Amino acid sequence: MERQKWWKHSVVYQIYPRSFSDSNGDGIGDINGIRSKLWYLKELGVDVIWLSPVYSSPNADNGYDISDYYGISPEYGTMDDLKALIFECENCGIKIMMDLVVNHTSDEHPWFLEAKRSKDNPYRDYYIWRKGEAGNPPNGLGSCFGGSAWEYSEETGEHYLHFFHKKQPDLNWENQAVRKEIWNMMNDWIDLGIGGFRMDVIDMIGKVPDQKIKENGPKLHEYLQEMNRETFGDKNLLTVGECWGADTENGILYSDPRQKELDMIFQFEHMKADEIPGKQKWDLKSLEFLQLKQSFAKWQVALEGKGWNSLFWNNHDLPRIVSRWGDDKEYRVESAKMLATVLHGMKGTPYIYQGEEIGMTNYPFSGIEDFADVESINMYHERKKMGYKEDDIMKSLCAKARDNARTPMQWDDSREAGFTKGSPWYRVNPNYKKINVESALADKNSVFYYYKKLIRLRKEEPVLVEGIFELLCPKDETIFAYTREWKDQKWLIVCNFYKNPVAFSYPAKGRVILSNYCQEPVLQLDKINLRPYEAIICELI
Ligand code: NOJ
Repeated sequence: MERQKWWKHSVVYQIYPRSFSDSNGDGIGDINGIRSKLWYLKELGVDVIWLSPVYSSPNADNGYDISDYYGISPEYGTMDDLKALIFECENCGIKIMMDLVVNHTSDEHPWFLEAKRSKDNPYRDYYIWRKGEAGNPPNGLGSCFGGSAWEYSEETGEHYLHFFHKKQPDLNWENQAVRKEIWNMMNDWIDLGIGGFRMDVIDMIGKVPDQKIKENGPKLHEYLQEMNRETFGDKNLLTVGECWGADTENGILYSDPRQKELDMIFQFEHMKADEIPGKQKWDLKSLEFLQLKQSFAKWQVALEGKGWNSLFWNNHDLPRIVSRWGDDKEYRVESAKMLATVLHGMKGTPYIYQGEEIGMTNYPFSGIEDFADVESINMYHERKKMGYKEDDIMKSLCAKARDNARTPMQWDDSREAGFTKGSPWYRVNPNYKKINVESALADKNSVFYYYKKLIRLRKEEPVLVEGIFELLCPKDETIFAYTREWKDQKWLIVCNFYKNPVAFSYPAKGRVILSNYCQEPVLQLDKINLRPYEAIICELI
């Protein structure tokens, strides 16, 4: 029998380096800042750090536009700093998972600088070029950041493809030389001792632009199998692909070990439960709670015994979950813990995004000048042009802008929340005096210690790792409840997702393992009243 993979009982912590901790006072978080906070991650108990990009980059998209895959951006430090981080993490039992951004490069990457010079340049085919008709783009493909996905390049009179910013030209994966370059680079990082890769928009690498296919192209899985063979296949790493376009069928293709592709993927179906199908995330709608439950349950059931789920509410692209689907005011602490319970009770590998573990909230934006992210700024101008009202645009931005997640980490109540001694690259949330690491560590009932317990449970309780998931009361409009069953053990996870108290009933007694309210050690579950955002994990006895 295959030994259980280590990442099945691990918890990953995502660091967005720019906003985590600044060691040199330039206002930008850096690698040495992360090193200075390893004690904190050790205290929390996480096993892996997913490090958002620290590579050389002109920062059109905060590092997701890489100009040198082998180099560290000076604003984050040096390669020696990174090696030291990997080494020190290893001593704490923490692995570093690097962000692998290979759907596109920066337009300042030497490959692209060469490629755009002439049609017969040896690097030309590293990218995707098409002739437009009469100065128009070759077709109507749109960029994820608004506008056309094609940019005219004067040097040769052709357009190149960019699914994101025009400073992020898409690589041509059809070209074997490109794939070879990427395998070499990945192997270099593996040799350096990293613990895995998080693969940026990896479901786009099989694109067929002439047929307007962005995600899930015909050769996608072939490429991933080749990647597996040529790089990490025989190593003991964690690989997770970002796949906005995944359904359960290809979720299995990606993560079934027999397929020899990846260990797991980020799929986003549950995060679309407050979106209007076919519209943009900016077109707001309130949460469809039943859809949310159904979506989680569908993935839990579909991947059982076949693939593996990753579990997340947050990352650097998503607004803060406690503001989105919890209550970031009166019940901030209760609802943050409830949301954590829903997620960490399920089967899969949980991911925590920096600040989530202290219940950090969205930023109180008041005007467009408050935003830094290219996606938000583009959307603002686009919608302004289309005649949208300022107020409506701001509502969308406040709810969904990625900048919500990118405000500096709140360490203490000193100036700039202890993030920097200088002036921070981006604004600190004014609630830092109350919400910060120092005060969380001083309060035994804080969100932090609740996360810590959840992380420990995953390591100590095989039922959380292995247990089969079953959704309870799927039609209940406010309660999220499910069981996990393993051997002769059965756990019940029951959460009131909302503020109004609600009755719940399950025909058994439960020994309480964890709750966000004070509980008797044993509960008669056939009639309980759940308080606002109450969450209980118990073992059925
Ligand atoms: C997904 C990343 O998470 C996001 O931040 C980035 O803008 C795009 N991919 C493009 O790399």
